Amino acid sequence: MTTTRIQVPLLDLKAQYASLREEIRPVIDEIFESQWFIGGPHVTGLEEDLAAYVGGASAVGCSSGTDALILALMALGVEAGDEVVTTPYTFFATIGSIARLGAVPRFVDIDPETYNIDLSGVEKAVNERTKVNLPVHLFGQCVEMEALTSLADAAGIPVVEDAAQAIGARDAGGGKAGSLGRVGCFSFFPSKNLGGAGDGGMVTTVDEDLGHRMAVLRNHGMEPKYYHSLLGGNFRLDAIQAAVLRVKLAHLDEWHEKRRGNASDYRRLFEEAGLLDRVSLPKERAGVYHIYNQFVIRVSSESRDDLVEHLHEMDIGCEVYYPVPCHLQKCFAGWGYGAGDFPESEKAALETLALPIYPELNDEQKAAVVDGIAEFFS
Ligand SMILES: Cc1ncc(COP(=O)(O)O)c(C=O)c1O
Repeated sequence: MTTTRIQVPLLDLKAQYASLREEIRPVIDEIFESQWFIGGPHVTGLEEDLAAYVGGASAVGCSSGTDALILALMALGVEAGDEVVTTPYTFFATIGSIARLGAVPRFVDIDPETYNIDLSGVEKAVNERTKVNLPVHLFGQCVEMEALTSLADAAGIPVVEDAAQAIGARDAGGGKAGSLGRVGCFSFFPSKNLGGAGDGGMVTTVDEDLGHRMAVLRNHGMEPKYYHSLLGGNFRLDAIQAAVLRVKLAHLDEWHEKRRGNASDYRRLFEEAGLLDRVSLPKERAGVYHIYNQFVIRVSSESRDDLVEHLHEMDIGCEVYYPVPCHLQKCFAGWGYGAGDFPESEKAALETLALPIYPELNDEQKAAVVDGIAEFFS
């Protein structure tokens, strides 16, 4: 008897497109007919839709999540010599954006259960050079924002949320990621829960003056045309991206629910397979709405890389986010950090592994992922 192996990609954007083709093609045609590629009604429409979705006073579309971070930090006046409080266990862009402005991160280690900033280290990290507090809602779960913002408010420091992986995630108090600090930064990289047809990003803010400043900085600090009172850049969002994102936004909550359903199914399957002594599953803080941009498990550091290889051999997608914490990246060697400086981040980098969690994942595929892991440990 021949058995067909079930393939499980880490993400299946072709399956998503198949369900949206009839909605996406007409808006792309419309843009080509209009030849209005930069800015325009789709960009302003998306900004209005997203300000309403996230719950901010204004939203400003931009060219990527990285540029959203740069815009937010620039608008708050971050410059050479300033410090920004954040964690080293994040995608490089969080730290790269700080460094590109000549500022330096003041790292706080992560909480090993949520992978988010460990609040017990935040107060100590703040000093007279601190300009911004930059928590990252990693993998789609909010940082404890009530506690974090009260610490930041007491120190008079604005909070910029790196919500690149967390659009639609809610904190325990019910507020959405990106509406809980001064500025929220989002990415529409195709693998995000709301992903474009290329790069794109957005900043949201409750502060209309700051929103206006970011809108001006996005377009070379130009206001009015050809008059520049601020030094900005080209951080604009293309009309095609905005149009695709508007189509997808209407489906986003349903996709979050499917991802959450997949997470519950995995929890049941791992338990039924008797794997809970080998595999730690993601911890959800009480009362939060986790959107599972990633479903990240933990295994021992001795087995992690072999497990990755085993799953890849079985055509099961998985990925390590992130194998090197930012304080140990080569390009930041000049900051002088070494192994052991942020032990929880370093441990997570050796033990974690993201599994497929996309909305279209079916029961057979989820079972294949867990069977593949069970086979590895048998
Ligand atoms: C936590 C985090 N911050 C920032 C970014 C940067 O976003 P982009 O890739 O759109 O520039 C990402 C995207 O991968 C991210 O995951």
